[in-house]
Amino acid sequence: MELRETLERRRMRRAFTPCEIDPDLVSGLFVESLRAPTAGNSRGISWVTLLGNHEVARYFEAATDEAWRQSSPRYEGLRHAGAIGICVANPETYRERYAEPDKARSGLGASIEAWPVPYWIGDAGAASLAALLLIEDAGLAACFLGAFRNDQALRAELDLRAHEVIYGAVLLGLPSDDDHRSASLTRPGPSRADRVRRIAPRG
Ligand SMILES: Cc1cc2nc3c(=O)[nH]c(=O)nc-3n(C[C@H](O)[C@H](O)[C@H](O)COP(=O)(O)O)c2cc1C
Repeated sequence: MELRETLERRRMRRAFTPCEIDPDLVSGLFVESLRAPTAGNSRGISWVTLLGNHEVARYFEAATDEAWRQSSPRYEGLRHAGAIGICVANPETYRERYAEPDKARSGLGASIEAWPVPYWIGDAGAASLAALLLIEDAGLAACFLGAFRNDQALRAELDLRAHEVIYGAVLLGLPSDDDHRSASLTRPGPSRADRVRRIAPRG
């Protein structure tokens, strides 16, 4: 599939049909997604993968609560994802990289607080988009879910290392016809073209 076509076709699909996905295919997709660039080639972005029914269930048990699972109209479709990749960033890897001689003048090796823009967040987004596009290209369905609940429980379940932060989750599987499109898609807002602007001419 051409890049442009994959980009156009990609959308968040929040309902999956139960199926098993070859674990090698899943890990291969997430490995390839890490062709996305990282600042200073820090390589402080990684994935923790959960494969198959049981591990996907472990994600939902840790990342959500019973009340959400009972009430969310999306849960039934989401829980049939064949696999999940949790995108993890390590800010300390970036700080250490920028303390190396060729980056030391940036001052960013001093502390995490010295960073005006946390590049690990941008890099995690780049890797996540690459994963979403690769999954689309493989003929599967995917969605990105934020991880803003139960951080401690999820960290424990994933056995995260010190300093690692969870950026979010990429779920993948076979698409289902019973998808729940985001209500936010009908929000009024600027077009894509409106969000590309030029600087004022000089003089
Ligand atoms: C950083 C990020 C976080 C998101 N978090 C969630 C989420 O927690 N739950 C969800 O259903 N969709 C989430 N989305 C999906 C957006 O709602 C979706 O991308 C947007 O509505 C546009 O739809 P499309 O991706 O299908 O074109 C997230 C997207 C991004 C980029």
